[in-house]
Amino acid sequence: MISELTIEQIKSRLDIVDVVGDFVKLKKRGTSYLGLCPFHNEKTPSFTVSPAKEIYKCFGCGKSGNAISFLMEHEKYSYAEALKWLAGRYNIEVEETEVSPATRALQQTADSLYIINNFAQHYFSDLLLRSEEGQDIGLSYLKERGFDVSVIEKFQIGYCSSQRDAFAKAALAAQYNAEYLQKTGLVVMRDEQLVDNYRGRIIFPIHNQTGKIMGFGARIIGKNDRAPKYINTPENEIYIKSKILYGSYFARQAIDKADECLLVEGYTDVISLHQAGIENVVASGGTSLTPDQLRLIKKYTHNLTIIYDGDAAGVKAALRGLDLALEEGLEVKLVLLPDSEDPDSYVHKTGREAFRQFIADNKKDIVLFQLEVSLKDAGNDSGKKAAVVNRIAETISKLNKAEDFTKQQDYIRQCAGLLKIDEAGLNNLVNKHIRERVLKQENKMASEDIRSAAEHEVPEAAVGVEDGIALLNKDELIERNMVRALIEFGGYVWDEKRKVADYVFDEFETNDLYELIDDKQMLWLIETYRSWMKEGKEPTPQLFLYHPDMQLSAIAVGLMDTRYELSLNWKDHYDGPLLTREDRYKEEVSSTLIYLKLRKIKRLIEENQRDLEHTKSPEEQLTLMQTHLHFKQLEKALTTEYETVIFKM
Ligand code: CTP
Ligand code: MN
Repeated sequence: MISELTIEQIKSRLDIVDVVGDFVKLKKRGTSYLGLCPFHNEKTPSFTVSPAKEIYKCFGCGKSGNAISFLMEHEKYSYAEALKWLAGRYNIEVEETEVSPATRALQQTADSLYIINNFAQHYFSDLLLRSEEGQDIGLSYLKERGFDVSVIEKFQIGYCSSQRDAFAKAALAAQYNAEYLQKTGLVVMRDEQLVDNYRGRIIFPIHNQTGKIMGFGARIIGKNDRAPKYINTPENEIYIKSKILYGSYFARQAIDKADECLLVEGYTDVISLHQAGIENVVASGGTSLTPDQLRLIKKYTHNLTIIYDGDAAGVKAALRGLDLALEEGLEVKLVLLPDSEDPDSYVHKTGREAFRQFIADNKKDIVLFQLEVSLKDAGNDSGKKAAVVNRIAETISKLNKAEDFTKQQDYIRQCAGLLKIDEAGLNNLVNKHIRERVLKQENKMASEDIRSAAEHEVPEAAVGVEDGIALLNKDELIERNMVRALIEFGGYVWDEKRKVADYVFDEFETNDLYELIDDKQMLWLIETYRSWMKEGKEPTPQLFLYHPDMQLSAIAVGLMDTRYELSLNWKDHYDGPLLTREDRYKEEVSSTLIYLKLRKIKRLIEENQRDLEHTKSPEEQLTLMQTHLHFKQLEKALTTEYETVIFKM
């Protein structure tokens, strides 16, 4: 771990204009800098860097962030890698904090496993290409399947001899540790002797993002009903199945370039497509996608195209994990291949161009596809059809981010059409699912939960914030404005005794924060602010913008950078010199707070009214009427207060 001190030094030294300037040609324009955006193709510059705010922002594609997130986005660095790069750039010595003995042991084991895997890969490749058995059995099998030597070498495919312990012996002779050898799964203990686990199999190495080998898939040659087709590396310190996407190391650049990731099932599918010149492809290993795999894909593109066999199992596999992908904000398309073909066999048959064409012509929207499949299943059974409607509403509700709003409305319209039901009805059902989820989340509001809920709503590195903002309604804008004011002005004076933050948290306390603010991301920022106050830290905007949790800093960047104000046109009321937000911070804080309190009262009134409509008992009606009057008085008082503040502004 890089020490806090080093991180502080880096942050205090770094200059965003320097950092971005290393990758983008920038020109000074007023107080900021302008250049061609490195994240999308453009001829006229719309990429700006603001040294004062320490952020960049593209008005073309909407990408924004700070110096660290720029490196993470542009160079695909991890947070630690970005810090190390910056340390190098500014000649800052990196101080690593003491790692715990457990972590150190884990790292050492991981290093040893990588070294053994590397040895094994060379050993197996050599055997495949240069030994008689390897050539006769392994290589001839691969050639028969149509694999060229060049692609075999690229993917470092190998062969394990059919002898009992040829590899085990070689590894022991090279002084590798028996315990680690077993951890890699390459050998197993039989009768107190180490024997090879992948005897007589083709060996597919599985590479991590930097090209190191995490493990292997070992395929049987030919058919054998008594043995498994593949033996895979057991879970260990470096082979964590849920995080593996086969082929991602070889596909990264092509995915970036095509802005699309093709997903297939098997190793051989990936390899054959590469051989055909289609390189933006990864394999899931035949299971449904995990959140970690989805996040890995999302690092490179938002467009995921799943290519599966057209059989029933393939369809089911493709649909599993769909909601998760939607929640992650991926645009998911599906291509089903003709019966009994997989990408490997199909691309061999058709060749590259026809394969590409087939994909382009047969891409289906996966949400609509799911609906078609389940409608066919349901037939004329009205109970089943109702379940389908509910299920699709739930799926659509997962697209619940501001920037997905249009997409959501589109789906509602199209699905209502296919289902032959009323659009407004479906819309209500979708909203019901959203509300239920929000309620569920609110019930367990430990800050850790807020964090993960908010994460799902984070626009990746605040992509398209500006577009998102355009879709936000007034309520959402005011929530954001409130939190922005808290972060920017929290340390300013409120009255003789309190700072702005003290006042705001007093108000949150008396009015119940969770009834004032709906937005999970905003709640996350507020909780973070609160915890810093508790620790006695001063929660400056800088602390948020450079928070080590990139999700959180992305939200903060998006918030601080957006150019929206209260929609009230205060200039109409005021003809003195123009005051800045700084001058009006108290008004901004009060007006946003009063607005949110008013909204809360309005909601309570509505709820009360609904109860009133549903009760038949006269006593209850009376109580509800009294409550109603009480709320109305509160509403009136707040409205007056609101108008006073607004008028002053
Ligand atoms: N798989 C596995 N264990 C098995 C079968 C399959 O781990 N017993 C995984 C492998 O990752 C495999 C993927 O599921 O690549 C897809 O399975 P399949 O289509 O059967 O294998 P292919 O890789 O297509 O192999 P081949 O083309 O040689 O049949
Ligand atoms: Mn296959």
